[in-house]
Amino acid sequence: MTRRAVVKGVGHYLPERVVPNIEFEKTLDTSDEWIRARSGIERRHFAAEGQTTSELAANAAKAALAMADMDAAEVDAIIVATSTADLTFPSAATMVQNAIGSTSGFAFDVQAVCAGFVYALSTANALIVSGQADRVLVIGAETFSRIMDWTDRSTCVLFGDGAGALVLQAEEGKGDSSDRGILSTDLNSDGRFKDLLYVDGGVATQTTGVLRMEGKEVFRHAVEKLAQTAHDALAKVGLGADDVDWVVPHQANIRIIQSTAKKLGVGMDRVVVTVQDHGNTSAASIPLALSVGVANGQIKQGDLLVTEAIGGGLAWGAVVIRW
Ligand code: UT7
Repeated sequence: MTRRAVVKGVGHYLPERVVPNIEFEKTLDTSDEWIRARSGIERRHFAAEGQTTSELAANAAKAALAMADMDAAEVDAIIVATSTADLTFPSAATMVQNAIGSTSGFAFDVQAVCAGFVYALSTANALIVSGQADRVLVIGAETFSRIMDWTDRSTCVLFGDGAGALVLQAEEGKGDSSDRGILSTDLNSDGRFKDLLYVDGGVATQTTGVLRMEGKEVFRHAVEKLAQTAHDALAKVGLGADDVDWVVPHQANIRIIQSTAKKLGVGMDRVVVTVQDHGNTSAASIPLALSVGVANGQIKQGDLLVTEAIGGGLAWGAVVIRW
């Protein structure tokens, strides 16, 4: 028998305010047409004044716990993947713990930018497989609208705010790829590429800073690295693209999603796409897509999923899950 981290619940939360592309035409030399054609994005949600990442995260967590029919007090660990935590410290995760009414277990953040949720899933899996936790809440939550340069048309039209959450629980499996739960993970990073995507503030500058990106270069790395990491994660458990029911990619750009699917050999009819409605929500994009995919009936119990993401660092990776 093999301990597996099995998904028991999923949920998401999006701030009320929806911003269509045309809003940017008022202040920038851009167009709805350009944004749709180059990124696939049609609209995104922005947090209200004073609405924080931990608040979005707590709302998503409550939805996932409700689906799992689980109390916050039953959760052993809370992991929040975010690069936009409310404060430098404490972690967004401890704020979520308090907001959902738990005083037990432990909580911490994982910061791997857009790859954050994949890293957090891998960490949660390790906690469960090693026996350190039985039930883990894994959340991706961001308020990237707080770190935009609103005069930079090449970045500020691409990002959005939101949160998604999964509840994972230990279950015994047979030890083969027919088991439900996380089957494999593949994580990578290469700090040589720091300057391609970063926020120009932080403790060192005593400012929050704004996002800076060499979009074309990041695009090039994404297309090359995402298909490779998804392939590697599948190969670790003897699976290939033909076995995959759903690719659930990081939602940065429809052209990256399409190129990656093509390289992997998976048709777009087996890819969950939400980028048109959410924009790039960094670490929140995969759990948001999982939650939407379940809610609209695409993802069903027993389906084989591969998630993949890349972001600042560069950091990238993939997780194979049987839902
Ligand atoms: O989630 C983390 C990872 N991030 C990503 O995966 C993002 C990766 N990169 C991308 O998605 C794409 O590179 C972008 C969507 C950012 C840009 O698309 P692109 O096809 O690579 O365009 P580009 O940067 O080559 O820009 C083409 C032109 C430029 O004008 P010139 O130099 O050809 O005259 C830009 O100045 O489009 C211009 N441009 C815009 N025009 C209208 C850039 N942003 C805009 C804009 N509206 N918002």
